[in-house]
Amino acid sequence: MPEGFKPKDKPWIQVEGATTEELIAQIDKYPSGAFSWYRNDEGKPTVEMSNSTKIEISPNGAIRVHGDVEITHSNGSVEKRATITALCRCGESANKPFCDGSHKKIEWKE
Ligand code: FES
Repeated sequence: MPEGFKPKDKPWIQVEGATTEELIAQIDKYPSGAFSWYRNDEGKPTVEMSNSTKIEISPNGAIRVHGDVEITHSNGSVEKRATITALCRCGESANKPFCDGSHKKIEWKE
């Protein structure tokens, strides 16, 4: 979706390049869970936490966390994630701590 996402630009999500519904549909398709969305008029969603978490190390790629996680960022902000979260382990992601697929571009090997 090049009109809404321009990976070489900063910021690389161009909200004026697509409708809200188009951006939501695209974000919902992204398999790593690195992106999420909420409507300003509804507030941030509440994430129900469960007790089960599975961690998978992808060959030559991300650390995939299956389950609910609470991430405390270096600035102290706390983010809750549900379902699946892909964390970068190659060090090249522009969206750390999340994987943005950069490991494929640099052909990173474990
Ligand atoms: S592991 Fe995917 S960008 Fe680093």
